[in-house]
Parts: sequence; C-alpha cells; structure tokens
Amino acid sequence: MTGRLENKVVLITGTGGGQGKAAAILFAKEGARIVGCDLKVEDSKETVRMVREAGGDMVSIEPLDLTIAAQAEKLVELTEKTYGRLDVLYNNASAARFAPMMEMTWEDWDFTIRNELNIIFVVTKAALPLMVRTKGSSIINTASVAGIVGAHGNSVSHAATKGGVHAFTRQLSLELAPHGIRVNSISPGMIRTPATEFIFKDQKLVDMMVQGIPMGRYGLPEDIAKVALFLASDDSGYITGADIVVDGGMVAS
Ligand SMILES: NC(=O)c1ccc[n+]([C@@H]2O[C@H](COP(=O)([O-])OP(=O)(O)OC[C@H]3O[C@@H](n4cnc5c(N)ncnc54)[C@H](O)[C@@H]3O)[C@@H](O)[C@H]2O)c1
Repeated sequence: MTGRLENKVVLITGTGGGQGKAAAILFAKEGARIVGCDLKVEDSKETVRMVREAGGDMVSIEPLDLTIAAQAEKLVELTEKTYGRLDVLYNNASAARFAPMMEMTWEDWDFTIRNELNIIFVVTKAALPLMVRTKGSSIINTASVAGIVGAHGNSVSHAATKGGVHAFTRQLSLELAPHGIRVNSISPGMIRTPATEFIFKDQKLVDMMVQGIPMGRYGLPEDIAKVALFLASDDSGYITGADIVVDGGMVAS
C-alpha cells in the first residue's frame, strides 16, 4: 500500500520533543523521508534511531539552535544535499518562558519572542528557495490555543507569539499561493509532552485541567501528528491560510 507522504521530503523542527518525535515516526511510516533537528542531542538521536528501526529514512543535526540563521541554513543545506528537494516544512520547535506580567523580565519576553516567533521566520526564510524549486509544497506552523483565548495564566509573551504565528501564517499563505505553496497552522490545546510533563506530577492539577476539556481527556502528541499528516499530505491540497484547533473542545467551551 502506498503511504500518504510517499516520495515527500519533510523537514520537522524539534524532533527530540513530544510532537516533533511523534510526527517524525508517523510521517516516516507514511513514506516520507525526514530531516530533523533539536537542541537536545540524546532525545534527537533517539528519534532517528526509532524511525530507522521501523524501516524509515531520517537524517538530523543535533545540537542545532534554530534561532540562529546560519544554523537553520545548515539544516536546509543538509536537506538539499541528502534529498535534493523539500516538500513539507513543519515548524514545530519552540520554547517559552512563563510569568505574570508584573514579574516578567525583558529577557523572558525576548527569549519567548526569539524561540517561538523568530524561530519560524528564520527557518521558513532559509527553506523557501528550495521549497519554491520543489513546487507543490506545504508549510505547517505550530501555534496554540493560547493565541486564540486568554484562559492560561502567566502567558502574555506566549500568547503574543502564538497570536503572531496565526497572523504570520495567514499573511504568508497569500504571498506563497502563487508559488503553489500552502501555509497552515495547528493550534494544540493541552498536550502531554516533555514541555508539559511538570503538570502531570500534580494529580489535582491534572484533574482540574481535564475538567475544563469537553472531551474529558488531555491530548497526546499523536493527536497533533495525525492532523499535521493531513496538512502535509495532498489530502489537504485546497487548504491554505487555515488554522486547525486540536484541543478536545477547549476553545469551543
Ligand atoms: N504541549 C502542549 O500542550 C502545547 C500546547 C500548545 C502548543 N504547543 C506547541 O507545540 C510545539 C511542540 O511542543 P511540545 O509540547 O512537543 O514541546 P517539547 O518541548 O516536547 O518539544 C519541542 C522541542 O523543540 C526543541 N527546541 C526548542 N527550541 C529550539 C531551538 N531554538 N532550536 C532547536 N530546537 C529547539 C526542544 O529542545 C524540544 O525538544 C511547540 O511549538 C509548542 O509551543 C504545545
């Protein structure tokens, strides 16, 4: 049977983390050749190992800091040298600092802007020339429900960057449509990953959180990877400038 991403080359950022790892494994199963990267060396290498052990094809660079333009360019160079094309860019990686506005420092704010918003600009800019040459490609940006509703505490910088990801996605989709490149975003709700693992140490907090989710459960990295697979595949060939909320109904409630 042919996979849904057969012959496609997919660059996923942050493949050492929860959602990036799940996407690399799922996309490779669907026939994609994967390029990954992460700041975290061991976690990133483990993903490569898992993909290859399952019979998939993946290369990656670690450690790699995507906020540095030269490093993002290195990743795109690896993509071109290894596979000669780039069909899907999945901007998944990010890192944020959370604090109430009264306590948030300039450094916290600046860190979050660089690691959640600038990171997407830097990688997309580096990847675009190859994507334009590839034709028929797709960009997936990871936003958040925090960019839509103000329900989370201590999140001014995170909410601002993720709202920025929504706006960036819409605007870029218009610019790139004539090149045949689709640009969409995913807004995850509460997903259990290394980034949110601290919450799961406190059962009371988990119960409270789950009560606020109409579907009665938190999300798993695979819930997001399956939606990213749709946006990466030709099944979403007429969708651009869209955001898909994947949150068990949180935003609707
Ligand atoms: N987990 C959630 O509940 C949730 C909710 C909404 C949105 N998101 C978004 O989903 C995406 C994935 O998050 P996750 O929960 O899987 O987090 P995660 O921390 O498990 O994975 C993110 C990975 O990105 C890497 N990374 C961060 N900055 C980097 C940089 N500058 N260069 C290279 N690699 C870098 C990290 O090392 C990490 O391995 C993020 O954009 C996050 O904002 C997550």
